[in-house]
Amino acid sequence: MPTAPTRAGAATESEPAPALELQDLSWAVGGAVIVDGVALAARSGEFVALIGPNGAGKTSLFNLVSGLTRPTRGRVLLSGADVTRERPYQRTRRGLGRTFQTSSVFADLSVEENVGLAAQARTGDSHRFWRRAASASGPRTAEVLELVRLAHRSGAEAGGLSHGDKRKLELALLLARGPELILLDEPMAGVSAGEVGELTGVIRDVQRERRCTVLMVEHHMEVLLELADRLAVMHHGALLAFAAPETAMADPQVQAAYLGEPL
Ligand SMILES: Nc1ncnc2c1ncn2[C@@H]1O[C@H](COP(=O)(O)OP(=O)(O)O)[C@@H](O)[C@H]1O
Ligand SMILES: [Mg+2]
Repeated sequence: MPTAPTRAGAATESEPAPALELQDLSWAVGGAVIVDGVALAARSGEFVALIGPNGAGKTSLFNLVSGLTRPTRGRVLLSGADVTRERPYQRTRRGLGRTFQTSSVFADLSVEENVGLAAQARTGDSHRFWRRAASASGPRTAEVLELVRLAHRSGAEAGGLSHGDKRKLELALLLARGPELILLDEPMAGVSAGEVGELTGVIRDVQRERRCTVLMVEHHMEVLLELADRLAVMHHGALLAFAAPETAMADPQVQAAYLGEPL
């Protein structure tokens, strides 16, 4: 488990800003507090798994980080920059990436063409959107497809992929945009039990190779334990624990919160 070197009295000026920092982040809607004073900082390259029962506020927290919603209190910082008032596309430009299930996949286009379009969007070539998409298939596309273990399906129609392969494609679309911080909301949802291990390996490879920071909501315990440097545990909108997986799971507050409830 990588831990930041802590020297008593060490100058903090030389330490890089956290890739993601949430300060007292809250979101209320219709009088209900959905996200309640969440504070955490993820180091660059760190893998943080966000867990908590259904309705804990995990997706709402992601929406605040990506800018889909504005907090009622608190701040969101990306690499030290306060982005609380920024729109989602501005955060995307800063290297924030988030998967949106199947909505961004063109079912009739091939796997390679889909990735090519995403790479084009990144380079600001989107005005040439309707040019033959295949022309956008370059080394970057091939590299991304290799990384997510989808190279052998390059020519396949995206609409015909298995659930597991669709998730790999979504990840490829995200990577084509060159993100530094990736938000994954339940990437294993709808994926067959047999494909979970494979997809876990892909996510691990992506994070190691690209050295990006990952914040992932996931329920599969074996996946969390394999991938996560730290677990952030949410309950009723608040952060109960933020620590190494074993430490977080052993926390009496966490155990009490989960008594009889599936993670
Ligand atoms: N736009 C919204 N308006 C009102 N309530 C919402 C809205 N979005 C989420 N909620 C409520 O906030 C709570 C947390 O939801 P969510 O963030 O989706 O939880 P999780 O992802 O942890 O399952 C739920 O009770 C949900 O009904
Ligand atoms: Mg959710």
